[in-house]
Amino acid sequence: KKTLKTKTFGLKLDVLETSVSTQEEARELAEAGAPEGTLVVAEEQTGGKGRMGRKWFSPKGKGIWMSLVLKPAQPLHYMPQLTLLTGVAVCRAVRRVTGVMAGLKWPNDLLVDGRKICGILLESAAEDEYVRYCIAGIGISANLDAEDYPDELKPVATSLKIEAGEAIDRVQLIAAVMEEFEALYDLYRQEGFAPIALLWEALSVTLGKQVTVYTAAGPVTGHAKKLDHSGALTIVTEDGRELPVFSGDVELRR
Ligand code: BTN
Repeated sequence: KKTLKTKTFGLKLDVLETSVSTQEEARELAEAGAPEGTLVVAEEQTGGKGRMGRKWFSPKGKGIWMSLVLKPAQPLHYMPQLTLLTGVAVCRAVRRVTGVMAGLKWPNDLLVDGRKICGILLESAAEDEYVRYCIAGIGISANLDAEDYPDELKPVATSLKIEAGEAIDRVQLIAAVMEEFEALYDLYRQEGFAPIALLWEALSVTLGKQVTVYTAAGPVTGHAKKLDHSGALTIVTEDGRELPVFSGDVELRR
């Protein structure tokens, strides 16, 4: 039985025992001309990277630490859409393979009961405001046990194993992510962002909530209303203004 039913995603595959960061391995492959869909997976990362310069805890054999090369041939300002698409792909795969009903926190964290189960980091190389390639980094806390987490992560993180009550098959999940990702990516190229936005909204745990978004320009507090056509999160502030937020960290309020 063939595990991976894709046309290109994940077919060129590099599996490493250890890596500083699969983002860097994938970047080197992309610079050397690797085709779209090339995937790098590591058992362990010694310098795993998170968003906003944070570290990503990547212990050996416990998670899915991987980076996918994409070549979307579009202007750089469409990147937020691809970020959201990646979250939808992982969320659908996680639900399908493990039954864990994870939801998406804008832009693309996967949460279960408010705890993080997966992080996504998209990095791109551009020329004249046009994407040359992009690296979609996906970190899924698959088979970590509660005691594997350092104390500062214990209250905010969980894993699929903890939530599902049994170890999950990482190979099946990686294959499912590649399938969902490729199908959504094809849809995105044919129909644009609108259908992706609908799928994202249906999986969201952010919309309809009071939130504070910490942006580079300062915090914005209000009601998270919808995604706009570009992928920005529309916040309705207390004085009734609608503000699009393009990047930042969301804090969900009660
Ligand atoms: C975040 O939530 O801050 C994003 C975390 C992204 C982690 C993944 S693990 C595979 C890839 N390699 C890295 O160094 N980071 C990403």
